[in-house]
Amino acid sequence: MQYRHAPAANHASLDAVLVSAPGRPTLPVRLTLELLGRAREHLPGPGPVSVWDPCCGAGTTLAVLGLLGTGITALAGTDADPGPLDLARRNLALLDPAGRAARAAELDGLARRHGKPAYTDAAAAARALWPAAEVPWTVGTADALDPAATAAALGGTRPDVVLADLPHGRQTSWSGADARTGPDADSAPDTAGPEAGFLTAVASVLASEAVVVAAGRGRSVPLPSGVRALARLRVGHRAAVLARAGDLR
Ligand SMILES: C[S@@+](CC[C@H](N)C(=O)[O-])C[C@H]1O[C@@H](n2cnc3c(N)ncnc32)[C@H](O)[C@@H]1O
Repeated sequence: MQYRHAPAANHASLDAVLVSAPGRPTLPVRLTLELLGRAREHLPGPGPVSVWDPCCGAGTTLAVLGLLGTGITALAGTDADPGPLDLARRNLALLDPAGRAARAAELDGLARRHGKPAYTDAAAAARALWPAAEVPWTVGTADALDPAATAAALGGTRPDVVLADLPHGRQTSWSGADARTGPDADSAPDTAGPEAGFLTAVASVLASEAVVVAAGRGRSVPLPSGVRALARLRVGHRAAVLARAGDLR
């Protein structure tokens, strides 16, 4: 895949500032920015966008967008597991100056305690972060396979873009009452597997023109049968699919 929206850059210092849960995989910074750019190509206009990550985990995807993205009006994160949401709140707190100062002070403390220059460098990186705007954000618990729960967590807002790194591996398997077959297994018998159920459920709380980006591991991310992708991408062991919410419902 050729990157069109995210130039090559060394994001190691940002990775050192963000907090993450041990063993929980996160989407690479450059790919995160590229996926938002690709989603924007399919929106009706070039205006600002709101973004929802329905599998937000530690919130690194959203924090990266808020810190390095432009033209973002709001960020919303939900996850079925409340466990990593404190980390998400800490990462998203980096979007405001007080949060960055608090993280820098924390990293300074770690540098003193452990005598490791890497923490001093990370503290400097936290102080040097300068987001294009202070983007409002929310984080809450909701099973992405349950549209009533996600609609409630979104508080009536309808995000323009969904960007989700789907569960994969032992640490982040699918959860939720309907995880095996998806919420519409009875009404849509051709909808198979958690990815398809996830996409259908998420799309049902969006406006038709919204764009859903789902990233995963492996060769491709499956869509519900009969749905045409807007685009498919592959980078290394990562794959992503873009689809129009109206086509997924
Ligand atoms: C690959 S991780 C996402 C990592 C995240 N983007 C980050 O920045 O930390 C996948 C996440 O999906 C969540 N998940 C699993 N089943 C879910 C469901 N039914 N609804 C919502 N989230 C779910 C897991 O709890 C996990 O946090």
